[in-house]
Amino acid sequence: MKPVTEIIKNKPIIGWLLFIVTIAIVFLVGLLASSIIERRAESVFVYTPQVEHGQFEPRNEVWGENFPREFQSFKETEDTSFRSMFNGSASIDMLEVDPRLVVLWAGYGFSKDYNQGRGHAYAIKDIQNTLRTGAPVDGEKSPMPNTCWTCKSPDVPRMMNEVGIAEFYKGTWEEKGHQIVNPIGCADCHDAKTMNLAISRPALIEAFERQGKDITKASHQEMRSLVCAQCHVEYYFDKKREPGVPYLTFPWDGGMSVEAMEKYYDKIEFSDWTHKLSKAPMLKAQHPGYEIHSTGIHAQRGVSCADCHMPYKSEGGQKFTDHHIQSPLNNVASSCQVCHREESDRLIRDVYERQQKIIQNRDVLEELIVRAHVEAKTAWEKGANEKQMQAILMDIRHAQWRWDYAAASHGASFHSPLEISRVIATGITTAQEARLKLARLLSDLGFNQEVPYPDISSKTKAQEYIGLPVEKLKAEKKVFKEKVIPQWLDQAMEREKTYNTKEL
Ligand code: HEC
Ligand code: HEC
Ligand code: HEC
Ligand code: HEC
Repeated sequence: MKPVTEIIKNKPIIGWLLFIVTIAIVFLVGLLASSIIERRAESVFVYTPQVEHGQFEPRNEVWGENFPREFQSFKETEDTSFRSMFNGSASIDMLEVDPRLVVLWAGYGFSKDYNQGRGHAYAIKDIQNTLRTGAPVDGEKSPMPNTCWTCKSPDVPRMMNEVGIAEFYKGTWEEKGHQIVNPIGCADCHDAKTMNLAISRPALIEAFERQGKDITKASHQEMRSLVCAQCHVEYYFDKKREPGVPYLTFPWDGGMSVEAMEKYYDKIEFSDWTHKLSKAPMLKAQHPGYEIHSTGIHAQRGVSCADCHMPYKSEGGQKFTDHHIQSPLNNVASSCQVCHREESDRLIRDVYERQQKIIQNRDVLEELIVRAHVEAKTAWEKGANEKQMQAILMDIRHAQWRWDYAAASHGASFHSPLEISRVIATGITTAQEARLKLARLLSDLGFNQEVPYPDISSKTKAQEYIGLPVEKLKAEKKVFKEKVIPQWLDQAMEREKTYNTKEL
């Protein structure tokens, strides 16, 4: 066969034909590509809602009808099969893992029962099951207030809208048990009309307002963390704001650092409880995840909670946000490798290294505080008075606050390893300071030996040591679960049958 150039030289018309055909093909391919892109854009941006519902529709499956992909991935928080070295989606009995916690929390609910958190799908079940909420059967009251429901459910904004914020917090926990039944979901983080991210919890909005900031001015990227900051934060119940109302409040007025919040609490002389052994006025750090994260390198480089815990996912050519909120270590490819080029094993090792190194010192601090509580107890027994004990008890309060601040949010040793190491170091100094003073005081009181460390080698032994009747509590809880919970669920089902989705 002759080369093309020669054919064209002989018959120029063929050259022109080839030229026109090529143009036509390029044009058609372009048309096809633009139509594909347009269709994709349409399928992403133009959606026809299957159901119309208002902001206060608490049922996630109703919102889910309009967004099946987000809903499907959201349902995966039910999976409890993943374990990392220290965290994961399985519920871990932390008092069993670390019985020292029982002594640290003696006299407070957490010494009865404390599990490492699992997926959002379990928020309601877990608060119903924990011994901390007690066994309110036959008109009895729970030891916890209604405020405890606040971070558990989209029924919360619904109720706040119906009865008012303060009225929602008021009263004891069992009163709203039949109202709060849907686990954490769509209405907690989204605006129903636009599906934009939205803040549903007043405590966060109010904390911003008190600092002269307007949360509605937050950027899109900030919102990808702020929706989490509605719950993954430090808080306390302010009982002075409105009489008889434990009003949910974030102690951020002077800043979010461990020292700033400690100062805030000291100034208003707030304490969560009085320690059973040492009688120190204690603080319980809740879960200052947002505060600690904001001191870390990722936050400082503008990385949001959602970047790691809700990465994008692709399905059938559509990109969407993975609503399976979980440990990112179960999903390193989407959560870390979007930004880091290292192998998955290497990245996981980076996380474990930080966690292990920090836990090493955290354990030291824990033991020092246990010793301080026990030594303080001995000092009281040997006849110490309030005045002699005051500075010591404040040291114990501050040391344990630092320990708890570092431990309670679970992700902290990765979210901000440098800050957490610093906080633990200051905790160790403060605990040692307390013990120095205790040694001096004990010696003044004529006691010159080492106070023996109690045998708290298991959860059972530790609970016996602090005199907690756990078997009784468990038996009562069993009755509560069999008698009360099914009633709550029945009542909720009857109520939800009457819902007019459009009007909610
Ligand atoms: C309405 C309150 C609320 C909001 C909003 C919220 N969380 Fe949670 N989160 C919880 C509670 C409560 C738990 C513990 C659930 C349990 O163990 O029953 C939890 C558990 C978790 C866990 C542990 C899950 C596991 O499987 O180990 C992670 C991770 C988490 N949340 C991340 C986030 C992130 C990231 C955001 C923001 C995108 C967020 N959460 C928003 C209340 C909330
Ligand atoms: C803990 C907070 C939280 C909860 C609960 C939540 N979302 Fe989201 N959702 C997000 C975040 C964060 C994004 C990413 C938003 C962005 O960057 O614009 C998002 C994005 C979306 C989007 C936009 C498209 C996409 O996939 O990025 C839709 C639609 C959506 N969510 C639906 C739902 C539905 C339906 C539910 C309930 C089944 C739900 N979400 C529950 C936080 C949440
Ligand atoms: C959205 C981008 C982004 C994502 C997602 C991300 N990182 Fe990073 N990471 C950064 C940036 C930016 C830095 C700061 C260092 C720098 O500027 O190079 C950093 C720093 C680090 C460091 C060193 C900081 C230190 O603590 O000493 C480690 C380790 C790390 N990332 C691990 C991870 C892991 C593990 C994940 C997934 C769970 C992850 N990163 C997810 C952007 C990201
Ligand atoms: C750079 C990635 C990254 C960012 C950003 C990030 N996290 Fe994490 N988070 C992690 C890693 C890694 C862990 C440790 C997981 C493990 O040990 O299995 C973790 C752990 C957690 C845990 C405990 C998980 C469990 O399995 O019990 C919670 C809760 C959590 N993060 C919430 C948040 C919140 C809230 C924010 C934003 C304020 C945030 N995280 C920002 C990577 C990140």
